[in-house]
Amino acid sequence: MHDSERVLVFDFGSQYGQLIARRVREQNVFCQIVRHDLPAERVAALKPRGLIFSGGPASVYAPGAPHPDPKVFDLGIPVLGICYGMQLAAQALGGEVQPARSREFGRAHCRITEADGLFAGVPDETIVWMSHGDQVQAVNGNFVPLASTDTCPLAAVRHCDRPVFGLQFHPEVSHTPYGSRILRNFLYDVCGCQGQWHVQSFIQQSVAELRRQIGTHRVICGLSGGVDSSVTAALLVRAVGPQVACIFVDNGLLRQDEADAVRRTFRDNFKADLHVVDARDRFLGALAGVADPQQKRRIIGHVFIDVFKDEARHIENAKFLAQGTLYPDVIESGAAVDGPAATIKTHHNVGGLPKELGFELIEPLRDLFKDEVRRLGLELGLPEQTVWRHPFPGPGLAVRCLGVVTADRLDVLRKADAILLEELKQAGWYRKTAQAFAVLLPVQSVGVMGDERTYENAIALRAVQTDDFMTADWSHLPYELLAKISTRIINNVAGVNRVVYDISSKPPATIEWE
Ligand code: XMP
Repeated sequence: MHDSERVLVFDFGSQYGQLIARRVREQNVFCQIVRHDLPAERVAALKPRGLIFSGGPASVYAPGAPHPDPKVFDLGIPVLGICYGMQLAAQALGGEVQPARSREFGRAHCRITEADGLFAGVPDETIVWMSHGDQVQAVNGNFVPLASTDTCPLAAVRHCDRPVFGLQFHPEVSHTPYGSRILRNFLYDVCGCQGQWHVQSFIQQSVAELRRQIGTHRVICGLSGGVDSSVTAALLVRAVGPQVACIFVDNGLLRQDEADAVRRTFRDNFKADLHVVDARDRFLGALAGVADPQQKRRIIGHVFIDVFKDEARHIENAKFLAQGTLYPDVIESGAAVDGPAATIKTHHNVGGLPKELGFELIEPLRDLFKDEVRRLGLELGLPEQTVWRHPFPGPGLAVRCLGVVTADRLDVLRKADAILLEELKQAGWYRKTAQAFAVLLPVQSVGVMGDERTYENAIALRAVQTDDFMTADWSHLPYELLAKISTRIINNVAGVNRVVYDISSKPPATIEWE
């Protein structure tokens, strides 16, 4: 769809593949991650402006090391090889790759010897981020050295008569301060891109495509209140207005004001056909007496599907179901056309809808990264509060209300959680944390209020920093802020007499407590 100007990132198993793609898109150039051995004919058919070979953990001489189709070098399309990708390009075109004498990791001082072209606008001496075992040791006369470090004489090279470049360092990481400039030089000066990838053009193209696809049918969109489903719904409403039926299930496990916020945005602002299903009793009934976390998840998952199906049945002429799948999910699940094989990642996957629902799936965000989805959401008129909302698990407060879940316990938790979030926002800390929430512990402890001895609940506060939610560190919130939150919770939430702060990182702890 977005093919007027595209660059392909060949995935050789780098941990930075998605980061490279994001950096390219930040330069307003559309970019796709493809499998490393995509045949040259297919590459040619995609008409890319440039190819980027990612890094990777292998050694180019190791048996079974991933290689591109050698014919891609003959297509005349510019190539930028990064790290392992540079070694592949050099090897394919006559260079010699050897294990480096010193494996190099981290910051290195780099001297630029050819200051135009790829390095235009980069100072003669600059810092670059290295992470490699092998390096290109020697190149034949077809390559020209462009930069060096103390331990790496060929930190960057270009082919003398083909548009093929190699970087031994990583321009995509923020530790290479001029990395974006180098990528931009490649994209604009070498590949001749003009920067046509913009949120506005995405909206225009998607709206046209969705209208064509949906025709006069109706499309159902499940709303969770989170960023991805909200942006999906907003885009669909922009495209086909009242043909979209948004279903929001109030499962009684939501945070304070959540259902109202969804109503305000979608019903009042967007005038969307919003179905809020009050299923609180159904969920709480099914959860009665259940304390085991996985059991809670299973129950919630099943009830959700039943409730959703019941509501969807009433929507006539519905042919499509929209989902807020993003590009990283598509790539990691191995579902992308031309994309790399699946990478193993554990998913909680609760609240997902089964395929047998009988609808055709529409995934209008499947080409986008999260930061692009946020920009799109703002452009479509979603409130900042929705666009920057922390992720919230499908099973909701049930897995933060440790032990058995009751309406009363949820109420205590909801109030404490609302105070935490409000204070974080007010102090400017909400955007500095990736996720923050309160947990109601299944213990009571002794306290004293006035002259009276109390025996009440304890609330744990959790706030973490993380990029990928696979690992996380606890947020170093200021003591004064913690003190204010604690005081407000204890003074205002009946039934709580103690607040503690969780200072565990993931691993070995997880982000959630259940
Ligand atoms: P953990 O606790 O595994 O959480 O460190 C990592 C991220 O996943 C979210 N999470 C869930 N999301 N259903 C979801 O949709 C779940 O059952 C679930 N459990 C954890 C968690 O909030 C964090 O963002």
